[in-house]
Amino acid sequence: MKRTHYVSELRPEMQGQQVVLQGWVNRVRDFPEQYFVILRDRSGIAQLTVEAGNPAYALAGELRGEYVVEVTGTVRERGEGQRTDAYATGGVEVIPTELKILNRAVTPAFQVDGSPVTASEDIRLKYRYLDLRRREMQEVLRLRSRVQAEITRYLDDQGFINVETPMLTRSTPEGARDFLVPSRLSQGEFYALPQSPQLFKQLLMIAGLDRYYQFARCFRDEDLRADRQPDFTQLDMEMSFVEQGDVLDLNEGLLRHVFQAVLGETLPTPFPRISYFEAMDRYGSDKPDLRFDHSFTEVGDLFRGGEFKAFSEAANVKVMVAPELTRKQIDELERVAKQNGAKGLAWAKRGSDGLSGGVSKFLQDAAAELISRTGVQEGQTLLFSAGEWRPAAEALGAVRNALRDLFSLAAGGPKFHIGWVTDFPQLDQDPETGTWTYMHHPFTAPHPDDVALFGTPRQGEIRAQAYDLVLNGFEVGGGSIRIHQPEVQAQMFAAIGFDEAAARAKFGFFLDALESGTPPHGGIAWGFDRLIMLMSGASNIREVIAFPKNNRGLDLMALAPSPVDDAQLAEVGVQVRTTE
Ligand code: AMO
Ligand code: AMP
Repeated sequence: MKRTHYVSELRPEMQGQQVVLQGWVNRVRDFPEQYFVILRDRSGIAQLTVEAGNPAYALAGELRGEYVVEVTGTVRERGEGQRTDAYATGGVEVIPTELKILNRAVTPAFQVDGSPVTASEDIRLKYRYLDLRRREMQEVLRLRSRVQAEITRYLDDQGFINVETPMLTRSTPEGARDFLVPSRLSQGEFYALPQSPQLFKQLLMIAGLDRYYQFARCFRDEDLRADRQPDFTQLDMEMSFVEQGDVLDLNEGLLRHVFQAVLGETLPTPFPRISYFEAMDRYGSDKPDLRFDHSFTEVGDLFRGGEFKAFSEAANVKVMVAPELTRKQIDELERVAKQNGAKGLAWAKRGSDGLSGGVSKFLQDAAAELISRTGVQEGQTLLFSAGEWRPAAEALGAVRNALRDLFSLAAGGPKFHIGWVTDFPQLDQDPETGTWTYMHHPFTAPHPDDVALFGTPRQGEIRAQAYDLVLNGFEVGGGSIRIHQPEVQAQMFAAIGFDEAAARAKFGFFLDALESGTPPHGGIAWGFDRLIMLMSGASNIREVIAFPKNNRGLDLMALAPSPVDDAQLAEVGVQVRTTE
């Protein structure tokens, strides 16, 4: 017999109709002379009612949770008082005429019948195939699939060509550690798994494909966090003969389409754009959460030459207005500031006349001006961070996020705030060693007006034609216009201390290609898992990946990584030497 319906399709109007259902036993309720069997398939649940005398009665008594069954039966509308609104098919039941156990199951490691999950995340990951039986997990995977389908449809309509690029390749310059794969045929040599398809997509532009996209698997061996996986997915794209505005416009259209089609949410266009400088200066982050304001005011000028050394000797003093805070909350926020590199978190409270508490005794001369610049109201607290521009701002940015979590500040704003951060610096200098490195990657084009600054003491001021997509305080995408002129590429390599030989050794094939007729081009990659995490309201990237690694990078189900036997190692010419 073939299945006639998914269980959630059953309706009272089908009264008397014969159906064939297949699925898992979600739960059995055992009453005198009758069993209620809740049957589950990927669509939902429905009840089978098996009374004494029913030909399936004896077998129904054998059913246990997670058994796989097939049932042929008749749909019956439930009587008054027997209906439930707890699930979509609560108005009907199925009276079996035939029941088959297709497979038995051991007692599951944890319940997946819709009751709250109490199992630890490690247990859920170890038995991921059970965890994925839960409705919440299936809904996320369905959302992921729908978003992917809508993206494919939209980009296909816009003339994009989906191209796959290799998994076994050379190291790519995205700044993380590579995962390496030893070669059997070229012993002592290694492939690297791609950190992104960056060079390949640029080569596709040089090849003349004009518009490319791919759902690309990327691999980065870096410290894990709630929004990072070692093995993750990008929506990667690249376009030729474009300027920055073209890439941003295309992506705004695509995101609007996806949010509308999948969530029914209208994203306002154009998306807000804020420069890296302003994002740092006003919110202390290159991925500010703009669902709420709480921006900073610079007040360093009020303290120059003053007696309060923490402020008077600092290049910058940033202040943010916070709600009324208890001492305990202030201590907690100061801990956050210090964890993020600050020496402290000075504070003062606006009282009925002027400022009081905290460092207010040092602020008396500046009090009137502080109140007028910040607009702080009676009862509210001023939080100060003093220091070099970036670290001072970043520490206060971390405090701003902590304040958001403490007071649910984002709840008052839009559900989704999506925007661009633009004009990133081209180069980043290590404060300790003074060495320069790229901010996005070495193929990102500088702003044409700033190219002349390469090699001068002001090269830190060069703006990149780079942009990040920021959603609710998460970086969900990053991209740039690329360097297409070999001479600019050479200047860029020189700026980051790559001489020609070093650059050739690493990217020779790419530099040859660049000299072979390269169109102006640019693109972006979205962190696809992160986007799905935010669209689904999950708080962890692992919740939106079918088979993720845990926070120590382990696959607890398949048990990877794992040792391999000596013969396999010998074949690839690898000897293991552990460091402990
Ligand atoms: P970038 O390194 O900024 O750019 O990566 C693009 C986006 O990928 C996501 N992302 C991650 N998601 C989950 N786990 C990770 N470990 C992880 N690392 C990054 C982020 C990020 O914004 N080739 C360039 C793109 C380009 O220039 O077109 C690149 O990879 O959301
Ligand atoms: P101190 O002068 O070190 O005793 O600090 C007095 C107050 O200023 C304390 O509340 C410190 O947390 C705070 N403070 C010290 N240095 C800084 C700084 N760089 N930025 C902000 N607050 C600071």
